[in-house]
Amino acid sequence: MTLALGAASGLDHRVNSPHARAVESALAFWAEAGVDACYGEEPVDRLAEGAARLKAKAVTPRPAAVAQPAAGGRQAAPDVSGAVEQARAMAAEARTLEALAAAIAAFDGCGLKFEGAKQAVFSRGNPEGPVMVIGEGPGGEEDARGEPFVGKAGQLLDRMLEAAGLKDRVFITNTVFWRPPGNRTPTLAEQAVCAPFLHRAIALVQPKMLLLAGGASAKSVLQRDEGILTLRGRWFEWHAEDGTALPALPTLHPAFLLRQPAAKKKAWLDLLTLTERLDRPGRPD
Ligand code: URA
Repeated sequence: MTLALGAASGLDHRVNSPHARAVESALAFWAEAGVDACYGEEPVDRLAEGAARLKAKAVTPRPAAVAQPAAGGRQAAPDVSGAVEQARAMAAEARTLEALAAAIAAFDGCGLKFEGAKQAVFSRGNPEGPVMVIGEGPGGEEDARGEPFVGKAGQLLDRMLEAAGLKDRVFITNTVFWRPPGNRTPTLAEQAVCAPFLHRAIALVQPKMLLLAGGASAKSVLQRDEGILTLRGRWFEWHAEDGTALPALPTLHPAFLLRQPAAKKKAWLDLLTLTERLDRPGRPD
């Protein structure tokens, strides 16, 4: 939800003044009510700004990595391959996760960056962890704090990971690195543009397996069309460009579990499936 706030409100913004406290209190009230953005007096079309930047980068599409089993006909929008190429070049230059985070922050090819996101949100967790958790994209809390999965859904994710003995064994990131406006699902094109950075993160971290949180992550990473309720709990193979194969397990998104607590059992079974494979004696590294 959004709220238009303007100078016309006539409120005094001096720190510690009664007016400042009144503004703070009003903002806290609106934030509690779900209002998470304030607009100025004049409209700014951020969507048009982002679209114009993307148009300037457009060439023929080219997928950056192949997922198996086979794709099932999903294609990114055809006008983002210029941005994909640029992302590939920038990602390839990054020799460390810090350099990759800087490259993502400097990248202008994803329209989400220009649709109200405060900052790029890349990762948190153990860069040497054997499991990479890949979510959908940052939400409001993540956008404010610059780290993935730090809001309510992230707190649930952390509790589940801890209960499964995975707390310090995960590196956490997303399919896109800027908050989609209104927390909408990122488009395939936005995910395609960010994918080279995600693939580079996988190459640098070298996890033993991927945990794909939610349908948008599973569909994008695995290039599948089925819904998450069909995909979850089944092992797939993700293939990097160099042919490296990684086991990938889709599961339910923690935000979905907050809305549908009865589904937690399924997500828990998925985590057990993951830990069973991760800690299986004699599992080849
Ligand atoms: N949901 C996601 O998919 N990722 C986050 O980082 C936060 C919420």
